Amino acid sequence: MPWGVGPGGPPFILSNGLSVLSGIRRVDAADEHLLSAPLSRASRTMPGTVVVGTQFGDEGKGKIVDVLAEASDLVVRFNGGANAGHTVQVGGEQFAFRLLPSGIIRPKVLNVIGNGVAVDPGQLLEEIDALRARGHGVQNLRVSDRAHIVMPWHKTLDELEEKAKGAGMAAGTTKRGIGPVFEDKVGRWGIRVTDLLDDIVLRKKLDAIYPVKQKVSRAFGGTDTFSLDAVYNRYRGYGDRLREFVADTSVVVHDAIRGGKSVLFEGAQGTLLCVDHGVYPYGTSSACVAGAATVGVGIGPSAIDRVVGVAKAFTSRVGEGPFPTEVDDPVASHFRERGGGEYGTVTRRPRRVGWIDLVMLRYAARVNGLTDLAVTKIDVLAGLETVQAAEAYDHFDTELRHFPANMRVLAECSPEYRDFDGWEDLPAKEWRRIAGKGFDALPKAAQAYLRWIEGEVGVPLAFVSVGRGREDTIDLRKAAAPAKAPERKATESPRKPAKTKASRRR
Ligand code: GDP
Ligand code: IMO
Ligand code: MG
Repeated sequence: MPWGVGPGGPPFILSNGLSVLSGIRRVDAADEHLLSAPLSRASRTMPGTVVVGTQFGDEGKGKIVDVLAEASDLVVRFNGGANAGHTVQVGGEQFAFRLLPSGIIRPKVLNVIGNGVAVDPGQLLEEIDALRARGHGVQNLRVSDRAHIVMPWHKTLDELEEKAKGAGMAAGTTKRGIGPVFEDKVGRWGIRVTDLLDDIVLRKKLDAIYPVKQKVSRAFGGTDTFSLDAVYNRYRGYGDRLREFVADTSVVVHDAIRGGKSVLFEGAQGTLLCVDHGVYPYGTSSACVAGAATVGVGIGPSAIDRVVGVAKAFTSRVGEGPFPTEVDDPVASHFRERGGGEYGTVTRRPRRVGWIDLVMLRYAARVNGLTDLAVTKIDVLAGLETVQAAEAYDHFDTELRHFPANMRVLAECSPEYRDFDGWEDLPAKEWRRIAGKGFDALPKAAQAYLRWIEGEVGVPLAFVSVGRGREDTIDLRKAAAPAKAPERKATESPRKPAKTKASRRR
């Protein structure tokens, strides 16, 4: 008997109108309400905008998504899982979203978790409960019926596989089961959201998968035993609680785009963590580039006409792998301790920090097809006498301007730096006042640094962020005429930046 075909007639339509066969939550009154609101200004010209990280994650994507969500009708996650931690600060309130899209606190915005996201149902329900406890509704949430589920063995295997890989191969994962869940997706061992709504399919899948996972876990030296019945009951329970949110989200997003709505696709992680384009094997297990939004949501590339790349004014990373511009104290402490600290949003591990890396950003501009650049944390760099930026790598006297695939080569590269004048330290309220006035109000040295970055990357600067809050953001498009790609390598520094070479091994 094929899965899903139960005895005694068609069990597919549930009392709440959901179809377990397809998992479709029909576009109902709540969706109609959200999707029939008047078109936002941006939506008439820009149906699909993707926001991606251009570095190693934690660039401030959540903050930029929050700002862009103002003119969006939908915010859609398409990759990653609860390894992400996206911070949004509004007024005195701070949110750190792991699975929930960063538009969730805007009740008029429909928030979608696409099929490309690894959904940990326990984590998602915790986030939902926490948000409700803070007085925010989640009636504007939809979860793809095709998204894969994080099972208990995925988290166990995440730990065990990292140990087995050892120092040279381990990525220093967030231990959220992300690698193993995507391994199972590709290996066709996965359990999807739709399965949680169907007793028969879930039980049959678990009967097949569970003994294999026990064997794999033991082979890696694991001692955890999972009770099949307990897992079944727990995940059926999750299905019952999540049912109200489950939908064929490709249909939801597609209909919205056809209706002229504005859709914001919220990337997780960063380009250098991408499983295809990142520092393999030290990145994550899903694609993090803009193109992944199509596969991770179920829409075509023609739905996207804008790609915003978010970059910190310096570089940071949590986890292992080569990091050419990494710095030690005292500069590292400056980066880490200012602006609230550079500690992982998910794991609270101290982030490794370094100067901004233009080899990386040019690479990110290319593989994402960036149309806009957002630079965050200009306030965190303040107070340094000199600010450095790597414009190329030196590999045994050969200049590399393209990011290398070989991790040994990357580890052997030393950055070729340009030095810039630093800018003065200002109190948070002064940065906010500057943000209110616009780009020209920024310290002149910061303007020069930003314009040089823009020229090197070859992508117009669209946002500059000078603090954690929504209001600490300069939107350059508001003031300017339509952006045009700047000429590369325009250097507008008041002082001609000096070129310095770092010692080969720091
Ligand atoms: P994401 O994963 O890319 O969404 O970034 P995270 O939220 O993990 O990390 C970014 C951190 O920097 C958060 O704590 C933000 O509140 C904070 N942040 C974002 N932009 C700025 C900025 O311009 N200045 C300062 N000081 N903090 C910022
Ligand atoms: P956001 O969306 C920063 C890193 C981990 C580790 C590697 C693999 O908040 O920018 P994983 O658990 O995905 O298997 O870990 O990737 N990593 C992140 N670092 N920000 C993230 O997400 C990250 N998601 C994963 O530290 O090195
Ligand atoms: Mg983060």
